Amino acid sequence: MSGHGNGKVILLGEHAVVYGVPAIAAGLSSGATAVARAANATAAPTLSIAPWSVSVRPGDGSALGTAFEALVRARRELDPQRATDRSVEATMTLPGSAGLGSSAALGVAVLRALDHADDIARDFAQSQQIALAWERVFHGNPSGIDTALALAGGLARFHRQPAAGQPALVSIEGAPITLVVAHSGASGSTKETVANVAALRASQPEAFAEALAAFGALVHTAERALREGALESLGEAFDEGQTLLRAWGVSTPELDAMCEVARGAGALGAKLTGGGGGGCMIALVRDEHDAERVRSALSVRGREAFETTIGAAHTARKEKT
Ligand code: PMV
Repeated sequence: MSGHGNGKVILLGEHAVVYGVPAIAAGLSSGATAVARAANATAAPTLSIAPWSVSVRPGDGSALGTAFEALVRARRELDPQRATDRSVEATMTLPGSAGLGSSAALGVAVLRALDHADDIARDFAQSQQIALAWERVFHGNPSGIDTALALAGGLARFHRQPAAGQPALVSIEGAPITLVVAHSGASGSTKETVANVAALRASQPEAFAEALAAFGALVHTAERALREGALESLGEAFDEGQTLLRAWGVSTPELDAMCEVARGAGALGAKLTGGGGGGCMIALVRDEHDAERVRSALSVRGREAFETTIGAAHTARKEKT
């Protein structure tokens, strides 16, 4: 009766992906796990999140309650015969508002727990449709990259508007890479940074279009580098991505400083990941030895980090703190 949703790191293309540029992301094995229970016949079902000591009901006015309601409604619309109302208990193994896709991971875990309890097997497109109903409550205009990775994991290129007949998510196969992921100590609101980028687009449409084209070229370079195992080239793409994101105002002085620290300790490239405005940065390292150097340089700055190895498509990923 349980379901899991992966967290994720965006390697390149966050924010630009909202406007139709492809982005590259990898699922994390940490995320959210949920269990569905039979609902109390006399009360509305609840969604409880253990580590946050939160319990909500559909339509109780909270964002989580609204998202739970949207997900329950979307399931019922698609499967009026089989979808039942149940209470769900979830556990998170990711920090929220960190750019690691915690809300999408939670939505997917809840969906899978409910589907499992009702014995419903869904394809990716339908799961993505329901998970997006949940995610819209938190992010306003989500591209769908977080929910796609929460569902599929692996290392992939995501396209919000793929060409006709093409999938939204395409696996990228290559040699494993190692990333150090570090939290800046401040939480970031993806809804706010996405709205700020939309305002920038409205006020400077030409410069914005140029930046989108630059992101598109970088994502292309990064994908080739991943397939060929060209780590230096991937690291340069990370650094250029960070420069573009800073110009869009979604980085913070602390994230910039952490990227510098990581580079100074031997990282091949570093950038913020996800929505920004706080949250996490990722640094690409050559091996475990360099990962350790980067982690200890960041810890001198008071920043906690973990290391994740992203394998070839859908193969083992390991995370260690
Ligand atoms: O902050 P996160 O983990 O929710 O990632 C958001 C990614 C964005 O590209 C900024 C927004 C989106 O919907 O794609």
